[in-house]
Amino acid sequence: MTKDIFLLGSTGSIGETALSILKQDKKNFKIKLLTTNSNVNKIYKQAIQFNVREIVIFDKKKYLKNYKKFKFKKIKVYSSIKDVFKNKKKKSYLTINAISGIDGLEPSLNIIKFSKNFAIANKESIICGWNFLKSELKKYKTHFIPLDSEHFSIWSLLKEDKKNIKKIYLTASGGPFLNFNLDRIKNIKPKYALKHPNWKMGKKISIDSATMMNKIFEVIEAVKIFDLNSKQIDIIIHPKSYIHAIINFNNGLTKFLAHDTTMSVPIANAIYLEKNTYKHKKNKFNYEKLNGINFIKPDFEKFPLLKILNYKFNNTYLEIILVSLNDALVKNYLENKIPYISIHKSMVKLLKKPYFTKYYQVKPRNINDIKTMVKRVNQYVDEYFKVNA
Ligand SMILES: NC(=O)c1ccc[n+]([C@@H]2O[C@H](COP(=O)([O-])OP(=O)(O)OC[C@H]3O[C@@H](n4cnc5c(N)ncnc54)[C@H](OP(=O)(O)O)[C@@H]3O)[C@@H](O)[C@H]2O)c1
Repeated sequence: MTKDIFLLGSTGSIGETALSILKQDKKNFKIKLLTTNSNVNKIYKQAIQFNVREIVIFDKKKYLKNYKKFKFKKIKVYSSIKDVFKNKKKKSYLTINAISGIDGLEPSLNIIKFSKNFAIANKESIICGWNFLKSELKKYKTHFIPLDSEHFSIWSLLKEDKKNIKKIYLTASGGPFLNFNLDRIKNIKPKYALKHPNWKMGKKISIDSATMMNKIFEVIEAVKIFDLNSKQIDIIIHPKSYIHAIINFNNGLTKFLAHDTTMSVPIANAIYLEKNTYKHKKNKFNYEKLNGINFIKPDFEKFPLLKILNYKFNNTYLEIILVSLNDALVKNYLENKIPYISIHKSMVKLLKKPYFTKYYQVKPRNINDIKTMVKRVNQYVDEYFKVNA
């Protein structure tokens, strides 16, 4: 019997990697739902190729303009996850959330109850809404799998030894600017910042890798997912990105997890989780990469955003403000409205604004509180750049 898959964010980099794995095993897996924000042409092709009968186009204007086009192919189009499940109860074997940004949170909260297994790459929603996600996972007995490669590695390494962790090292590639002083690249254009040395990813996460914000997010994500204290996690730069996580245990043992720099490894292992039967086609142990292993302590002058890790992340509005400020700054940078250096400088300044700091001890009660704060941050950043242009 085939296993049903719901794939959120199918038109993005992670979504397409998941599809390329599922394409090779149509006998065992049947995709039942695909989603996009606004890439109507791509999702149309995907729906035809995988014979998917239901899709979501989240962008309201695109939805209204295009939903009729799908009718001819007998594909039902919705504009939200809630609408998809109005009259259904059947759970998927696996839901994959590959949406980017904080907008991935609400779809997760609406789909967990319809999923036996829930694998998520969308780090922003874990950072901002972990408490809400956790309570849905518990309520509906949904099995959780982190897909970020570092967290997938920790999760695999921890299956037995969770209680004995002394320290976890999250490896960072250092991004395209590891060997540059920040001053030299202060006006660097997005096309260079988008060129990650090891990974092919979506635009937003590529910029986050260059600034090291991605690693800050991953530390916060790991603290939440694995219920650790932040002192148990360190960042270590490993330019070849072959090792994804290192765990040092109290008993003196240290475990490393290595795999090629492709997200297909965690995604495929999540898809084939049940029987643990995945056989990676290009599986070749790369000792040359291990011979050249090189670990470097991160330099706070080059990556000033790392100081953000001194904040206490305790499921308050701080996480939402941080993620939304970063979304807004990266968007402005990608649209060539602000220079590269401004992502760093404005972030540090904005986080200290009393307009935001007064919320750092306050906890959002629900998804609507989170959405309201996201709007406020966006409005504030718009005004800020009008005045400080
Ligand atoms: N790429 C990687 O190697 C990698 C590794 C680890 C973790 N992650 C995390 O995985 C997530 C996805 O990354 P990615 O690189 O695959 O991103 P991406 O290529 O930009 O794709 C994002 C996907 O989310 C959809 N989306 C964007 N905004 C949305 C919104 N407001 N509402 C609903 N859907 C929306 C996009 O639809 P459209 O096509 O219509 O824009 C697309 O399907 C991110 O959270 C990232 O941090 C990525």
